[in-house]
Amino acid sequence: MSKNICVIGIGYVGLLTAVGLADFGNYVVGIDIDSSKIKSLQSGKSPIFEPGIEEYLRKNLASNRLSFSVDVSKSIKDSQVIFIAVGTPSKENGEADLRYIIEVLDNIRILANEKKTIVIKSTVPIGTNRRLHEYLSKDCIYNHHIVSNPEFLREGKAVYDFFHPDRVVIGSNDEDSKEIMKDVYRSLNRINVPFVWCDWESSELIKYASNCFLALKIGYINQIASFSEIVGADVQVIAKAMGMDGRIGPKFLHAGPGYGGSCFPKDTRALSAMGKKVNAPISIIDALVKANEEQKVNIYNRLKKRLDNFNGKKVCILGLSFKAETDDIRESCAITIVNNLLKDNIDIQVHDPKAMLNFSKEFPNIIYADNEYEAIKNCDALLILTEWNEYRSLDLVRIKQIMRTAYIFDTRNVVDIGEMDRLGFSYDLIGKRTHL
Ligand code: UGA
Repeated sequence: MSKNICVIGIGYVGLLTAVGLADFGNYVVGIDIDSSKIKSLQSGKSPIFEPGIEEYLRKNLASNRLSFSVDVSKSIKDSQVIFIAVGTPSKENGEADLRYIIEVLDNIRILANEKKTIVIKSTVPIGTNRRLHEYLSKDCIYNHHIVSNPEFLREGKAVYDFFHPDRVVIGSNDEDSKEIMKDVYRSLNRINVPFVWCDWESSELIKYASNCFLALKIGYINQIASFSEIVGADVQVIAKAMGMDGRIGPKFLHAGPGYGGSCFPKDTRALSAMGKKVNAPISIIDALVKANEEQKVNIYNRLKKRLDNFNGKKVCILGLSFKAETDDIRESCAITIVNNLLKDNIDIQVHDPKAMLNFSKEFPNIIYADNEYEAIKNCDALLILTEWNEYRSLDLVRIKQIMRTAYIFDTRNVVDIGEMDRLGFSYDLIGKRTHL
């Protein structure tokens, strides 16, 4: 049976959840305090860049199963199931700030006219769902259900991931909420997506353990890459052969400039802090956090060394987002590199197909070029930090003509090595031989 659902907090996860659940046939209202965002959503315009999202947004608005509003009171009263997808930013001491979730629960306590199923989508520290349940149960006439339902969407592939998840994880402490969640996700049930039903704590930890494991794979291959450079091996061949072992798998073995984004850096730090807090340190994650920071700094140091301490040099950076297919720059390698270049007073020209607006808010005083060739012109180094498709097919003949010094540092291994050799470029790569 279709459910009346509201999704509170229309950030990245909230938007995907609202649109996806409406597409499953539920009646969904997306709620946010930002009225300009709500207006834009009502007109079918997505406030975030995510391939495919606007098509689903418009389709479901047109079918009247999806709407957006700032009226939280009405939506809470009208909805049987309330998804909470508000932000849980890190406090100064590294702990997650749950203030926005608590605000929503306080509203539910006052406004609910029946028992509700409250689904926590935000990534929260272990023990949070239990604490929220206790908090909400106090002085409340309804024993509302609290359900933990972590998300595993990748930015840039989030629409596909929503409709084709590897698994759906549901943590709860009662049987009724299971039946309700089965109904909410019935379309996935029908196509045999596996469901993992568990307690709150396991559900919360599945999210951290999964993200940290993926981050570990990346950290591992990055260190194997550094080792490969020294001993003359090729990390791409190694990763390919490793991935052929079904126990290892081929994914998340691309060596690069270190993982970034809003999830891996935050979740690795959080899991490490949580382990220490309960005296069960997960020291392998501490090592990973350190190694990932070093990876970014090492790239900078290699570049600096190659450019003879930057004396009078100009650097071009292609790729500012933390990965391709997103305009998100949070914890991207470009931030570390640009901060360091600015400290060293180096002229920088940059380009990114989607992330220049976001980057320019943090770094207004560098040169943003209209296209990659404008960014490369007159530079002494071309540093590629994001694996955008357009950077895989750069015209190297043209680049050779417009650069002051024909040197490329390709941290994503996207440029054709044979062509660089043929044209006489010097270059640095990750996990492969360098050519000077
Ligand atoms: C990650 C997880 O993949 C999602 O499952 C999860 O839902 C999400 O975090 C979250 O917790 O919200 P996302 O941050 O969008 O998704 O990006 P990923 O595609 O996982 O990439 C993360 C970082 O690792 C990027 O900087 C990427 O360039 C880097 N990476 C990834 C590599 O350096 N090598 C790889 O082989 C894969």
